[in-house]
Amino acid sequence: MPSTLDLAIETDAPIPTWFGVGGRADRLARPEDLDQVRRSLEAGERVRVLGAGANLLVADEGVDGLVLSLEAPRFKWHELDTATGQVRVGAGFDLHKLIGITARAGLAGLEGLAGVPATVGGALRMNAGGAFGEIADLVDRVHVIEPGGAERMLERGQIDFGYRRSGLDAAIVVSAELALTPADPTDVRARWKRVMAAKSASQPLASDSAGCVFKNPELPRAIDGLGKPGERVSAGRLIDLAGCKGLARRSARVSDVHANFIVAARNGHARDVIELMEEVRRRVEDRFGVTLQNEVVLWQRDR
Ligand code: EPU
Repeated sequence: MPSTLDLAIETDAPIPTWFGVGGRADRLARPEDLDQVRRSLEAGERVRVLGAGANLLVADEGVDGLVLSLEAPRFKWHELDTATGQVRVGAGFDLHKLIGITARAGLAGLEGLAGVPATVGGALRMNAGGAFGEIADLVDRVHVIEPGGAERMLERGQIDFGYRRSGLDAAIVVSAELALTPADPTDVRARWKRVMAAKSASQPLASDSAGCVFKNPELPRAIDGLGKPGERVSAGRLIDLAGCKGLARRSARVSDVHANFIVAARNGHARDVIELMEEVRRRVEDRFGVTLQNEVVLWQRDR
């Protein structure tokens, strides 16, 4: 049904991120439905979608173009089929909530993503995951709106999922169908707890950080004690071995718990995080000849 409402645009709007630092959006909209999403693309300006802000760093100068936040009910629905394990869910739905709901319903799969803060749309776009699995493993179909406004239902095989990537960069994810596995709720919850326990033992979950800031790199050559060429190794381990734990740039500091986390102080600045990331990248490059790539997404002005 076409929407009759105009898309309301807020100007100079705050962008909540887990880092808790950084600038604002020149223009931000919270579309009510698909029609309004499509309308937001009509002007042809750059559109960025805000998820949970969990893996996002916004430059202190803020960001131009239009930021969309898919927080209306039309993007926050979910449906479970406990007999088949099929889960249909809107892009704005909170991943953590979905993990709880599916675990309690006795559907296994998502509990491997416990402790990953994200919306479903953000998790798909980044192919969120870790040692206990990634969301791509569970995807059947993703419903997107393409930059030209066309709606498409992409089958899993049409999506170019890889390590922390989906290739869904230009499209706007509006919902997804996931294939979970019916199981004993007690077992699913027990695994969920184990994953959470492993994470809280090795990561600074309570601090103002955006999770891992760099992707785990593939080694360009064999490094003694680390791995063979082509092997993906922990960026945190490399940063730690390069002596960067505790390294600081004004309001930003490399975590002492896990070296791939940068913690930003309250009222800190995005530029401190960015400078510290550059310094860490330089030190790891000097020590190991490995160039770390950002996992954290940086939003800054195009103009
Ligand atoms: N290690 C260190 N020092 C550190 C950090 C890690 O020596 O400061 C060592 C650990 O002791 C362990 C190894 O490195 O032997 C691997 O560490 P970990 O299990 O923490 O895994 P990781 O490869 O560093 C990845 C993901 C995390 C995910 C964890 C666990 C990436 C970039 N990171 O980290 O994801 O939570 O596995 O599943 O893929 C994220 O994406 O934001 C994130 C935090």
